[in-house]
Amino acid sequence: MSEMLELKDVSAGYGTFQALFDVSLTVNTGEAVAVIGPNGAGKTTLLRVISKLINATQGALVMEGKPYNAVPAHTVISLGIAHVPEGRRLFPRLSVEENLRMGAFIPSARKGFEERLDFVYSLFPRMKERRQQMAGTLSGGEQQMCAIGRALMSGPKLLLLDEPSAGLAPVVVQSIFELIRRIRAEGYTVLIVEQNIQQVLKVVDRAYLLETGRIRMSGPAAELLGSDEIRRAYLGMA
Ligand SMILES: Nc1ncnc2c1ncn2[C@@H]1O[C@H](COP(=O)(O)OP(=O)(O)OP(=O)(O)O)[C@@H](O)[C@H]1O
Ligand SMILES: [Mg+2]
Repeated sequence: MSEMLELKDVSAGYGTFQALFDVSLTVNTGEAVAVIGPNGAGKTTLLRVISKLINATQGALVMEGKPYNAVPAHTVISLGIAHVPEGRRLFPRLSVEENLRMGAFIPSARKGFEERLDFVYSLFPRMKERRQQMAGTLSGGEQQMCAIGRALMSGPKLLLLDEPSAGLAPVVVQSIFELIRRIRAEGYTVLIVEQNIQQVLKVVDRAYLLETGRIRMSGPAAELLGSDEIRRAYLGMA
């Protein structure tokens, strides 16, 4: 399997506060990988570093064999990396379809716009029904679909998802994880950050446990799900 994304000994922070310490991880082409960990562990920071919203203070970022530390944030999307941020960040007063259009602003995505839109609507029939509705009036689960759809409109290779299940009712959480399974089956490579450990470990291949900015454990999802440490600390099982 070829490596799509690789982080080597990456550190980062905010001002004098260090949030990530020597984080190394890889995401192979076609894989779904999770980063799990408690509040404040640095999960969002990690995705921000990968999409260059903040700079690594140390270490290397490599996409498809090419280091990209020096690439500015606005060109990361043309490397094939699309980020669905924490809290969705839709344009609330624009329609669903206008939000989707915003995801296709890069020249390479503009060409295939209609095909991509059809693809997103086939993945999320609900978005097609609601295409004229203002995004701010969608339900939480629908907003998450719209945010994921918008990211897919750029034709990414790697999809970064920051806690897609946050704030959703259990039944909606189920459908979001089911969607992730489908996106993955469509051939996308996915890196997902989640606190919903039990659920996410069922849809990914491998996972990393991040605690206070450090990778504490990594391995096949089933292995982490079965680990005593994770069961005790995060799943509330003895
Ligand atoms: N803009 C910022 N300025 C200063 N410190 C920040 C900033 N953003 C995050 N931090 C700090 O960095 C650490 C990691 O935060 P981060 O948001 O990456 O955690 P997280 O794992 O995503 O948590 P959660 O699960 O609650 O979303 C925290 O201690 C947080 O307070
Ligand atoms: Mg976060």
